[in-house]
Amino acid sequence: MIETLLIDGGVRLKGEVTVSGGKNAAVAIIPAALLADSPSTIENLPDIDDVYCLRDILIWLGADVTFEHGVMSIDPRGITRNDPPYELVRKMRASYYLVPVLLGRMGSSCVPMPGGCDIGNRPIDQTIKGLTSLGADVDLSGGVIRAQVTDHFEGTEVFLDFPSVGATINTMLTAVCAKGATTIHNAAKEPHIVDTANFLSSMGAWVKGAGTDVIRIRGGRPLHGSNYAVIPDQIETGTLMIAAAATRGDVMIRGAIPTHMESLTAKLLEMGVHVNEADDRIRVRADGKLRPINIKTQVYPGFPTDLQQPMTAMLASVPGSSYVTETIFENRFRYVDELRRMGANIRVLERTAIVEGVPQLRGTRITATDLRAGAAMIVAALIAEGRSEIKGVKYIMRGYERIDEKLRLLGAMAIHKTYADNEYNDDEF
Ligand code: UD1
Repeated sequence: MIETLLIDGGVRLKGEVTVSGGKNAAVAIIPAALLADSPSTIENLPDIDDVYCLRDILIWLGADVTFEHGVMSIDPRGITRNDPPYELVRKMRASYYLVPVLLGRMGSSCVPMPGGCDIGNRPIDQTIKGLTSLGADVDLSGGVIRAQVTDHFEGTEVFLDFPSVGATINTMLTAVCAKGATTIHNAAKEPHIVDTANFLSSMGAWVKGAGTDVIRIRGGRPLHGSNYAVIPDQIETGTLMIAAAATRGDVMIRGAIPTHMESLTAKLLEMGVHVNEADDRIRVRADGKLRPINIKTQVYPGFPTDLQQPMTAMLASVPGSSYVTETIFENRFRYVDELRRMGANIRVLERTAIVEGVPQLRGTRITATDLRAGAAMIVAALIAEGRSEIKGVKYIMRGYERIDEKLRLLGAMAIHKTYADNEYNDDEF
Protein backbone atom coordinates (compact mmCIF):
# COMPACT_ATOMS: atom_id res chain seq x y z
CA MET A 1 0.00 0.00 0.00
CA ILE A 2 1.25 3.51 -0.85
CA GLU A 3 -0.09 6.56 0.94
CA THR A 4 0.40 10.13 -0.19
CA LEU A 5 -0.74 13.55 0.89
CA LEU A 6 -1.43 15.96 -1.96
CA ILE A 7 -1.31 19.65 -1.08
CA ASP A 8 -1.81 22.67 -3.32
CA GLY A 9 0.21 25.55 -1.94
CA GLY A 10 -0.46 29.25 -1.83
CA VAL A 11 -3.71 29.31 0.14
CA ARG A 12 -3.90 31.53 3.25
CA LEU A 13 -5.33 29.32 6.00
CA LYS A 14 -8.46 30.86 7.50
CA GLY A 15 -11.09 29.69 9.96
CA GLU A 16 -11.31 27.62 13.11
CA VAL A 17 -9.81 24.27 14.00
CA THR A 18 -9.84 22.14 17.15
CA VAL A 19 -6.76 20.46 18.53
CA SER A 20 -6.86 16.70 19.22
CA GLY A 21 -5.79 14.96 22.43
CA GLY A 22 -2.06 14.80 23.13
CA LYS A 23 -0.13 11.92 21.56
CA ASN A 24 2.73 12.00 24.03
CA ALA A 25 0.34 12.05 26.98
CA ALA A 26 -1.82 9.28 25.50
CA VAL A 27 1.08 6.90 24.94
CA ALA A 28 2.10 7.17 28.62
CA ILE A 29 -1.37 7.19 30.17
CA ILE A 30 -2.69 4.14 28.28
CA PRO A 31 0.07 1.82 29.64
CA ALA A 32 -0.28 3.41 33.10
CA ALA A 33 -3.88 2.15 33.22
CA LEU A 34 -2.43 -1.38 33.49
CA LEU A 35 -1.34 -0.61 37.06
CA ALA A 36 -4.95 -0.50 38.29
CA ASP A 37 -6.96 -3.29 39.87
CA SER A 38 -10.12 -2.15 38.04
CA PRO A 39 -11.07 -0.68 34.63
CA SER A 40 -10.20 2.85 33.46
CA THR A 41 -11.83 5.05 30.84
CA ILE A 42 -9.54 7.46 29.04
CA GLU A 43 -11.09 10.22 26.96
CA ASN A 44 -9.89 12.74 24.40
CA LEU A 45 -7.48 10.27 22.84
CA PRO A 46 -6.28 11.13 19.34
CA ASP A 47 -7.33 8.81 16.51
CA ILE A 48 -3.75 8.03 15.46
CA ASP A 49 -1.72 4.92 14.68
CA ASP A 50 0.29 5.02 17.94
CA VAL A 51 -2.92 4.73 19.96
CA TYR A 52 -4.14 1.79 17.85
CA CYS A 53 -0.78 0.13 18.27
CA LEU A 54 -1.00 0.39 22.06
CA ARG A 55 -4.57 -0.91 21.99
CA ASP A 56 -3.37 -3.96 20.06
CA ILE A 57 -0.50 -4.54 22.49
CA LEU A 58 -2.81 -4.34 25.53
CA ILE A 59 -5.26 -6.79 23.95
CA TRP A 60 -2.38 -9.13 23.12
CA LEU A 61 -1.30 -9.04 26.77
CA GLY A 62 -4.81 -10.12 27.82
CA ALA A 63 -6.49 -6.82 28.73
CA ASP A 64 -10.07 -6.13 27.69
CA VAL A 65 -9.88 -2.95 25.59
CA THR A 66 -12.29 -0.98 23.42
CA PHE A 67 -11.47 2.23 21.56
CA GLU A 68 -14.15 4.30 19.88
CA HIS A 69 -14.68 8.02 19.26
CA GLY A 70 -11.56 8.97 21.18
CA VAL A 71 -12.51 6.98 24.29
CA MET A 72 -10.62 3.90 25.40
CA SER A 73 -11.81 1.59 28.15
CA ILE A 74 -9.16 -0.61 29.59
CA ASP A 75 -9.84 -3.51 31.93
CA PRO A 76 -6.41 -4.86 32.87
CA ARG A 77 -7.63 -7.69 35.10
CA GLY A 78 -7.26 -10.36 32.41
CA ILE A 79 -3.56 -9.66 31.74
CA THR A 80 -1.60 -12.89 31.79
CA ARG A 81 1.48 -12.01 29.74
CA ASN A 82 4.45 -9.72 30.34
CA ASP A 83 6.14 -10.08 26.92
CA PRO A 84 4.57 -7.86 24.22
CA PRO A 85 5.58 -8.95 20.70
CA TYR A 86 8.42 -7.32 18.78
CA GLU A 87 6.22 -6.71 15.70
CA LEU A 88 4.04 -4.28 17.68
CA VAL A 89 6.61 -2.85 20.08
CA ARG A 90 9.05 -1.84 17.33
CA LYS A 91 6.51 0.57 15.84
CA MET A 92 6.83 3.15 18.59
CA ARG A 93 9.38 4.51 21.01
CA ALA A 94 6.85 4.84 23.84
CA SER A 95 6.24 1.09 23.99
CA TYR A 96 9.02 1.00 26.61
CA TYR A 97 6.54 2.53 29.09
CA LEU A 98 5.29 -1.07 29.28
CA VAL A 99 8.49 -2.06 31.09
CA PRO A 100 7.65 -0.46 34.47
CA VAL A 101 3.92 -1.13 34.30
CA LEU A 102 4.31 -4.85 33.55
CA LEU A 103 7.06 -5.01 36.17
CA GLY A 104 4.70 -3.44 38.70
CA ARG A 105 1.77 -5.63 37.74
CA MET A 106 3.44 -8.99 37.10
CA GLY A 107 6.72 -8.72 39.03
CA SER A 108 8.72 -9.00 35.80
CA SER A 109 8.59 -7.76 32.22
CA CYS A 110 10.16 -8.74 28.96
CA VAL A 111 9.83 -5.95 26.37
CA PRO A 112 11.79 -5.75 23.09
CA MET A 113 13.81 -2.55 22.63
CA PRO A 114 11.53 0.21 21.40
CA GLY A 115 11.30 1.62 17.85
CA GLY A 116 10.08 5.09 16.91
CA CYS A 117 11.43 7.86 14.70
CA ASP A 118 14.95 7.57 13.36
CA ILE A 119 16.34 10.91 14.53
CA GLY A 120 19.72 9.77 15.78
CA ASN A 121 20.96 7.59 18.57
CA ARG A 122 18.23 7.26 21.21
CA PRO A 123 19.79 5.56 24.23
CA ILE A 124 17.67 4.40 27.17
CA ASP A 125 20.41 4.48 29.83
CA GLN A 126 18.49 6.95 32.02
CA THR A 127 15.42 4.70 32.05
CA ILE A 128 17.63 1.78 33.05
CA LYS A 129 19.20 3.94 35.75
CA GLY A 130 15.72 4.73 37.14
CA LEU A 131 14.72 1.06 37.17
CA THR A 132 17.92 -0.21 38.75
CA SER A 133 18.12 2.62 41.31
CA LEU A 134 14.71 1.47 42.52
CA GLY A 135 16.02 -2.08 42.92
CA ALA A 136 14.81 -3.78 39.74
CA ASP A 137 17.12 -6.27 38.08
CA VAL A 138 17.55 -5.36 34.41
CA ASP A 139 19.11 -7.40 31.62
CA LEU A 140 19.43 -6.02 28.08
CA SER A 141 20.81 -8.97 26.17
CA GLY A 142 19.33 -9.99 22.81
CA GLY A 143 17.61 -6.67 22.13
CA VAL A 144 15.08 -7.26 24.91
CA ILE A 145 14.63 -5.32 28.17
CA ARG A 146 14.11 -7.97 30.86
CA ALA A 147 13.24 -6.44 34.23
CA GLN A 148 12.54 -8.25 37.47
CA VAL A 149 11.49 -7.13 40.92
CA THR A 150 14.04 -8.00 43.64
CA ASP A 151 14.00 -7.97 47.46
CA HIS A 152 15.26 -4.39 47.41
CA PHE A 153 12.57 -3.02 45.12
CA GLU A 154 11.86 0.16 47.08
CA GLY A 155 11.72 3.95 46.90
CA THR A 156 14.98 5.90 46.69
CA GLU A 157 16.66 9.06 45.35
CA VAL A 158 17.08 9.03 41.56
CA PHE A 159 19.28 11.64 39.86
CA LEU A 160 18.77 11.76 36.11
CA ASP A 161 21.88 12.86 34.17
CA PHE A 162 19.62 14.61 31.66
CA PRO A 163 15.94 15.62 31.99
CA SER A 164 14.77 12.89 29.63
CA VAL A 165 11.02 12.73 29.05
CA GLY A 166 10.98 8.95 28.66
CA ALA A 167 13.22 8.31 31.67
CA THR A 168 11.16 10.64 33.87
CA ILE A 169 7.92 8.86 32.94
CA ASN A 170 9.46 5.39 33.29
CA THR A 171 10.96 6.24 36.69
CA MET A 172 7.67 7.75 37.87
CA LEU A 173 5.78 4.62 36.76
CA THR A 174 8.30 2.37 38.52
CA ALA A 175 8.29 4.47 41.69
CA VAL A 176 4.51 4.28 42.18
CA CYS A 177 4.92 0.47 42.29
CA ALA A 178 7.95 0.36 44.64
CA LYS A 179 7.13 0.72 48.33
CA GLY A 180 8.38 3.88 50.06
CA ALA A 181 9.47 7.36 49.07
CA THR A 182 11.18 8.21 45.79
CA THR A 183 12.52 11.57 44.69
CA ILE A 184 13.35 12.07 41.02
CA HIS A 185 15.89 14.88 40.62
CA ASN A 186 16.49 16.69 37.33
CA ALA A 187 13.13 15.45 36.05
CA ALA A 188 11.74 16.60 32.70
CA LYS A 189 8.89 19.11 32.96
CA GLU A 190 6.93 18.62 29.72
CA PRO A 191 3.12 18.95 29.90
CA HIS A 192 2.64 15.22 29.22
CA ILE A 193 4.67 14.42 32.35
CA VAL A 194 2.27 16.50 34.42
CA ASP A 195 -0.66 14.81 32.68
CA THR A 196 0.71 11.33 33.41
CA ALA A 197 1.28 12.30 37.07
CA ASN A 198 -2.29 13.64 37.28
CA PHE A 199 -3.63 10.38 35.88
CA LEU A 200 -1.60 8.38 38.42
CA SER A 201 -2.95 10.62 41.22
CA SER A 202 -6.50 10.03 39.98
CA MET A 203 -5.79 6.28 40.34
CA GLY A 204 -4.83 6.76 43.99
CA ALA A 205 -1.06 7.29 43.65
CA TRP A 206 0.84 9.93 45.68
CA VAL A 207 2.83 12.00 43.19
CA LYS A 208 3.86 15.62 43.85
CA GLY A 209 5.98 18.12 41.98
CA ALA A 210 5.42 17.00 38.37
CA GLY A 211 6.08 20.03 36.17
CA THR A 212 9.09 21.00 38.31
CA ASP A 213 12.49 19.34 38.19
CA VAL A 214 11.91 17.45 41.45
CA ILE A 215 9.13 14.85 41.55
CA ARG A 216 8.28 13.11 44.85
CA ILE A 217 6.41 9.83 44.96
CA ARG A 218 5.19 7.63 47.81
CA GLY A 219 4.90 4.24 46.18
CA GLY A 220 3.29 0.92 46.89
CA ARG A 221 -0.31 2.14 47.23
CA PRO A 222 -3.05 0.06 45.61
CA LEU A 223 -4.18 1.79 42.41
CA HIS A 224 -7.72 1.74 41.07
CA GLY A 225 -9.12 2.49 37.62
CA SER A 226 -10.02 6.06 36.80
CA ASN A 227 -11.93 8.20 34.32
CA TYR A 228 -9.57 10.70 32.78
CA ALA A 229 -9.28 13.01 29.76
CA VAL A 230 -5.84 13.66 28.25
CA ILE A 231 -4.58 17.18 27.57
CA PRO A 232 -4.63 18.73 24.09
CA ASP A 233 -1.64 18.04 21.89
CA GLN A 234 1.04 20.67 22.40
CA ILE A 235 2.87 19.81 19.19
CA GLU A 236 -0.23 19.67 17.00
CA THR A 237 -1.22 23.08 18.43
CA GLY A 238 2.23 24.41 17.55
CA THR A 239 2.17 22.89 14.07
CA LEU A 240 -1.19 24.55 13.36
CA MET A 241 0.09 27.88 14.72
CA ILE A 242 3.13 27.67 12.44
CA ALA A 243 1.00 26.66 9.44
CA ALA A 244 -1.30 29.64 10.06
CA ALA A 245 1.62 32.06 10.30
CA ALA A 246 3.54 30.55 7.37
CA THR A 247 0.58 30.93 4.99
CA ARG A 248 -0.04 34.49 6.27
CA GLY A 249 -3.41 33.22 7.43
CA ASP A 250 -5.86 33.98 10.22
CA VAL A 251 -6.69 30.89 12.27
CA MET A 252 -8.46 30.37 15.58
CA ILE A 253 -7.14 27.23 17.27
CA ARG A 254 -9.62 25.87 19.79
CA GLY A 255 -9.20 23.39 22.61
CA ALA A 256 -5.55 24.35 23.18
CA ILE A 257 -3.62 25.26 26.35
CA PRO A 258 -1.92 28.60 25.59
CA THR A 259 0.55 28.34 28.52
CA HIS A 260 2.04 25.19 26.92
CA MET A 261 2.87 27.26 23.85
CA GLU A 262 4.79 30.15 25.39
CA SER A 263 8.18 29.49 23.79
CA LEU A 264 6.64 29.22 20.32
CA THR A 265 4.36 32.21 20.85
CA ALA A 266 7.37 34.31 21.88
CA LYS A 267 9.19 33.38 18.67
CA LEU A 268 6.17 34.06 16.47
CA LEU A 269 5.73 37.49 18.08
CA GLU A 270 9.42 38.17 17.45
CA MET A 271 8.81 37.41 13.77
CA GLY A 272 5.94 39.89 13.57
CA VAL A 273 3.07 37.38 13.77
CA HIS A 274 -0.01 38.40 15.79
CA VAL A 275 -0.89 35.87 18.51
CA ASN A 276 -3.90 36.40 20.79
CA GLU A 277 -4.79 33.99 23.56
CA ALA A 278 -7.95 33.52 25.62
CA ASP A 279 -8.85 30.53 27.84
CA ASP A 280 -8.49 27.56 25.50
CA ARG A 281 -8.16 29.52 22.25
CA ILE A 282 -5.21 30.86 20.33
CA ARG A 283 -5.68 33.13 17.31
CA VAL A 284 -2.73 33.38 14.95
CA ARG A 285 -2.68 36.05 12.25
CA ALA A 286 0.07 37.09 9.91
CA ASP A 287 0.20 39.54 7.10
CA GLY A 288 2.96 41.14 5.16
CA LYS A 289 6.61 40.62 5.89
CA LEU A 290 7.89 38.36 8.64
CA ARG A 291 11.29 38.77 10.26
CA PRO A 292 13.95 36.03 10.44
CA ILE A 293 14.75 34.65 13.90
CA ASN A 294 17.16 32.37 15.72
CA ILE A 295 15.99 29.27 17.58
CA LYS A 296 17.68 26.82 19.91
CA THR A 297 15.72 23.73 20.94
CA GLN A 298 15.63 23.09 24.68
CA VAL A 299 13.79 20.92 27.16
CA TYR A 300 10.42 22.36 28.30
CA PRO A 301 9.68 25.22 28.79
CA GLY A 302 12.28 25.96 26.09
CA PHE A 303 11.54 25.72 22.37
CA PRO A 304 10.42 22.11 21.66
CA THR A 305 12.57 19.99 19.39
CA ASP A 306 9.35 18.60 17.90
CA LEU A 307 8.52 22.04 16.45
CA GLN A 308 12.02 22.66 15.09
CA GLN A 309 11.18 21.07 11.73
CA PRO A 310 7.90 22.86 10.87
CA MET A 311 9.45 26.12 12.10
CA THR A 312 12.47 25.69 9.82
CA ALA A 313 10.10 25.03 6.91
CA MET A 314 8.39 28.36 7.58
CA LEU A 315 11.72 30.20 7.95
CA ALA A 316 12.80 28.82 4.55
CA SER A 317 10.66 31.50 2.91
CA VAL A 318 11.19 34.35 5.37
CA PRO A 319 13.72 36.81 3.83
CA GLY A 320 16.99 37.14 5.75
CA SER A 321 19.11 34.69 7.76
CA SER A 322 17.69 32.49 10.52
CA TYR A 323 19.78 30.13 12.65
CA VAL A 324 18.13 27.00 14.01
CA THR A 325 20.16 24.99 16.54
CA GLU A 326 19.10 21.51 17.61
CA THR A 327 20.40 20.56 21.05
CA ILE A 328 18.18 17.58 21.95
CA PHE A 329 18.62 15.06 19.12
CA GLU A 330 21.76 14.45 17.11
CA ASN A 331 20.22 13.83 13.70
CA ARG A 332 17.15 15.96 13.29
CA PHE A 333 17.96 17.83 10.06
CA ARG A 334 17.51 15.03 7.53
CA TYR A 335 14.32 16.65 6.22
CA VAL A 336 16.34 19.70 5.10
CA ASP A 337 17.32 17.81 1.91
CA GLU A 338 13.64 17.66 0.98
CA LEU A 339 13.19 21.39 1.63
CA ARG A 340 16.16 22.05 -0.65
CA ARG A 341 14.41 20.10 -3.40
CA MET A 342 11.64 22.68 -3.08
CA GLY A 343 14.12 25.50 -3.57
CA ALA A 344 15.06 26.27 0.05
CA ASN A 345 18.51 27.65 0.76
CA ILE A 346 19.61 25.90 3.96
CA ARG A 347 23.06 24.79 5.07
CA VAL A 348 23.59 22.52 8.04
CA LEU A 349 26.76 22.99 10.09
CA GLU A 350 26.93 20.40 12.82
CA ARG A 351 23.84 21.05 14.93
CA THR A 352 22.82 24.36 13.33
CA ALA A 353 20.78 24.97 10.20
CA ILE A 354 21.53 28.30 8.55
CA VAL A 355 18.40 29.27 6.71
CA GLU A 356 18.59 31.96 4.02
CA GLY A 357 14.97 32.75 3.25
CA VAL A 358 14.02 32.52 -0.44
CA PRO A 359 11.06 34.42 -1.94
CA GLN A 360 9.18 31.27 -2.94
CA LEU A 361 9.35 27.48 -2.46
CA ARG A 362 8.16 25.29 -5.32
CA GLY A 363 5.84 22.33 -4.91
CA THR A 364 7.25 18.95 -5.84
CA ARG A 365 7.34 15.30 -4.74
CA ILE A 366 8.78 15.10 -1.20
CA THR A 367 9.15 12.49 1.52
CA ALA A 368 8.55 12.67 5.26
CA THR A 369 11.50 10.92 6.87
CA ASP A 370 9.94 10.90 10.35
CA LEU A 371 6.87 12.22 12.15
CA ARG A 372 7.88 15.84 12.71
CA ALA A 373 9.75 15.96 9.40
CA GLY A 374 6.28 15.22 8.04
CA ALA A 375 5.00 18.37 9.74
CA ALA A 376 7.79 20.32 8.01
CA MET A 377 6.77 18.87 4.64
CA ILE A 378 3.16 19.93 5.24
CA VAL A 379 4.13 23.51 6.14
CA ALA A 380 6.49 23.72 3.15
CA ALA A 381 3.82 22.33 0.79
CA LEU A 382 1.27 24.84 2.10
CA ILE A 383 3.50 27.83 1.28
CA ALA A 384 4.99 26.48 -1.95
CA GLU A 385 3.88 27.47 -5.39
CA GLY A 386 1.93 24.65 -7.05
CA ARG A 387 1.22 21.09 -5.98
CA SER A 388 3.28 18.89 -3.66
CA GLU A 389 2.97 15.17 -3.16
CA ILE A 390 4.17 14.01 0.26
CA LYS A 391 5.25 10.42 0.72
CA GLY A 392 6.07 8.71 4.03
CA VAL A 393 2.55 9.57 5.19
CA LYS A 394 2.58 6.63 7.63
CA TYR A 395 4.88 8.70 9.85
CA ILE A 396 2.52 11.66 9.80
CA MET A 397 -0.46 9.45 10.68
CA ARG A 398 1.41 8.23 13.77
CA GLY A 399 0.98 11.63 15.33
CA TYR A 400 -1.49 13.93 13.54
CA GLU A 401 -5.18 13.07 13.67
CA ARG A 402 -6.98 13.64 10.34
CA ILE A 403 -4.54 16.40 9.41
CA ASP A 404 -5.83 16.51 5.81
CA GLU A 405 -9.39 17.16 7.02
CA LYS A 406 -8.23 19.89 9.38
CA LEU A 407 -6.30 21.64 6.62
CA ARG A 408 -9.33 21.45 4.31
CA LEU A 409 -11.44 22.99 7.04
CA LEU A 410 -9.03 25.93 6.92
CA GLY A 411 -9.41 26.30 3.15
CA ALA A 412 -6.39 24.33 1.90
CA MET A 413 -6.52 21.66 -0.80
CA ALA A 414 -5.13 18.63 1.04
CA ILE A 415 -6.02 15.07 0.11
CA HIS A 416 -4.81 11.87 1.77
CA LYS A 417 -4.68 9.17 -0.93
CA THR A 418 -4.16 5.46 -0.48
CA TYR A 419 -3.15 3.25 -3.41
CA ALA A 420 -2.61 -0.48 -3.75
CA ASP A 421 1.05 -1.04 -4.75
CA ASN A 422 0.14 -1.80 -8.37
CA GLU A 423 -2.24 1.17 -8.66
CA TYR A 424 0.25 3.92 -7.93
CA ASN A 425 1.58 5.64 -11.03
CA ASP A 426 4.80 7.49 -10.49
CA ASP A 427 4.31 9.66 -13.60
CA GLU A 428 0.86 10.91 -12.71
CA PHE A 429 1.84 13.64 -10.30
C1 UD1 B 1 9.94 12.51 24.01
C2 UD1 B 1 8.83 12.73 23.00
C3 UD1 B 1 9.40 13.23 21.69
C4 UD1 B 1 10.27 14.48 21.92
C5 UD1 B 1 11.29 14.25 23.04
C6 UD1 B 1 12.04 15.52 23.42
C7 UD1 B 1 7.23 11.05 23.69
C8 UD1 B 1 6.55 9.78 23.37
N1 UD1 B 1 8.17 11.45 22.80
O1 UD1 B 1 10.80 11.52 23.45
O2 UD1 B 1 8.32 13.53 20.82
O3 UD1 B 1 10.96 14.78 20.74
O4 UD1 B 1 10.63 13.76 24.21
O5 UD1 B 1 11.14 16.50 23.81
O6 UD1 B 1 6.93 11.70 24.67
N2 UD1 B 1 18.57 10.40 26.19
C9 UD1 B 1 19.64 9.72 26.70
N3 UD1 B 1 19.40 8.68 27.56
C10 UD1 B 1 18.14 8.30 27.89
C11 UD1 B 1 17.06 9.01 27.37
C12 UD1 B 1 17.30 10.06 26.51
O7 UD1 B 1 20.78 10.02 26.39
O8 UD1 B 1 17.99 7.34 28.67
C13 UD1 B 1 18.78 11.49 25.22
C14 UD1 B 1 18.21 11.10 23.85
O9 UD1 B 1 19.14 10.42 23.08
C15 UD1 B 1 17.87 12.40 23.26
C16 UD1 B 1 17.45 13.23 24.46
O10 UD1 B 1 17.99 12.58 25.59
O11 UD1 B 1 19.02 12.98 22.69
C17 UD1 B 1 15.96 13.41 24.58
O12 UD1 B 1 15.34 12.20 24.89
P1 UD1 B 1 14.01 12.09 25.74
O13 UD1 B 1 13.74 13.36 26.47
O14 UD1 B 1 14.09 10.83 26.53
O15 UD1 B 1 12.92 11.95 24.62
P2 UD1 B 1 11.88 10.79 24.40
O16 UD1 B 1 11.22 10.45 25.69
O17 UD1 B 1 12.49 9.72 23.57
